[in-house]
Amino acid sequence: MPVIGKLNIVVTGGAGFIGSHLCDRLVQKGHMVTCVDNLHTGRFDNVRPLLNHRNFSFAEADVREPLDIGGPVDRIYNLACPASPPHYQTDPIGTVKTCVLGALHVLELARSTGARVLQASTSEVYGDPEIHPQPESYRGSVNPIGPRACYDEGKRCAEALFFDYRRMHGVAVKVARIFNTYGPRMLENDGRVISNFVVQALRNKPITLYGDGSQTRSFCYVEDLLNGLELLMESDDQVTGPINLGNPREVTVKEIAHMVLAQTGSRSRLAYHPLPQDDPRRRKPEIGAAAQALGWQPSIPLEQGLRSTIDYFALKVATPAPAAAPRREAPTAVAAGPNRAVRKRRAALSAVSGPA
Ligand SMILES: NC(=O)c1ccc[n+]([C@@H]2O[C@H](COP(=O)([O-])OP(=O)(O)OC[C@H]3O[C@@H](n4cnc5c(N)ncnc54)[C@H](O)[C@@H]3O)[C@@H](O)[C@H]2O)c1
Repeated sequence: MPVIGKLNIVVTGGAGFIGSHLCDRLVQKGHMVTCVDNLHTGRFDNVRPLLNHRNFSFAEADVREPLDIGGPVDRIYNLACPASPPHYQTDPIGTVKTCVLGALHVLELARSTGARVLQASTSEVYGDPEIHPQPESYRGSVNPIGPRACYDEGKRCAEALFFDYRRMHGVAVKVARIFNTYGPRMLENDGRVISNFVVQALRNKPITLYGDGSQTRSFCYVEDLLNGLELLMESDDQVTGPINLGNPREVTVKEIAHMVLAQTGSRSRLAYHPLPQDDPRRRKPEIGAAAQALGWQPSIPLEQGLRSTIDYFALKVATPAPAAAPRREAPTAVAAGPNRAVRKRRAALSAVSGPA
């Protein structure tokens, strides 16, 4: 990793699963981090330990609105978007807006501040792929009118905007196509394979498999992914991506279920359900470009990552949730302008956060 000085970094979606780990890491490295999140699928608890750190601030704001951070910005990681199908399909129009308007607003912020901006794109841009594994040059097979289209097409449009801003305005852009990532802080109920299986196994409930469980996925541990995101962000300007970040070890969903059962010692049985519409049959990243351009490859074996994830969920399952989420209240003073939500929350938190 290149050694870089202290930077002003905005992480949208920073209270989510991946974003909160990224905030932790960037603050630990001495950067000034502003987390922008509307807490749609993210949790305040994920960033609560950072609130007393002088280098961290939290802005409760929606990327569908214009963003004004009110200070210098060197880097923007755009992670704001619900990532699991049950969440992004609950409000598909909202998801399209988050993908497209969110991209537009972070790009405008990058243009006005001169910041470098990284888009968290997704392997879903490949849809249900006809070639395997998927290289970045593959243009995908997406159903543009199906229930997953709000996310898949939204992310594709966001990629288009990133490259248009580069061509038209010279914005320094980076696009990472993230494949399935897992680890602590995933939501218990978000319908993603690993979190689902682990929570079901820990509760000795049936493990829900869709189809016959022979569809494949490739799972990347969150720490490996963060290494890739950071390397991409700090790479030379001509390295724009899109670049695949994921673990090429391909496993069937059924194999994962058996690994989880073995590691948890669960008595759960496997329960088969119909395959959802447009569910991809195979998923495996081609990561030669990341290896060549960034010197990146994942190093954490699935067995090891699963252990940390199971340990995290075991604590969650054992600890009942508090009766009411202890959220901070907004102040009465509100700044004018389109970015009022950002300023409002920053003001609220600066009043309660002290130095580290
Ligand atoms: N986890 C994966 O396997 C995976 C795979 C491919 C791509 N990605 C991408 O990585 C990013 C992070 O994913 P994640 O797994 O951490 O998901 P997540 O749902 O845990 O995090 C997303 C965060 O974005 C916030 N958010 C959503 N809509 C917003 C809006 N309109 N304005 C402000 N904040 C908003 C949520 O509250 C949440 O904190 C997403 O963009 C996702 O598409 C993730």
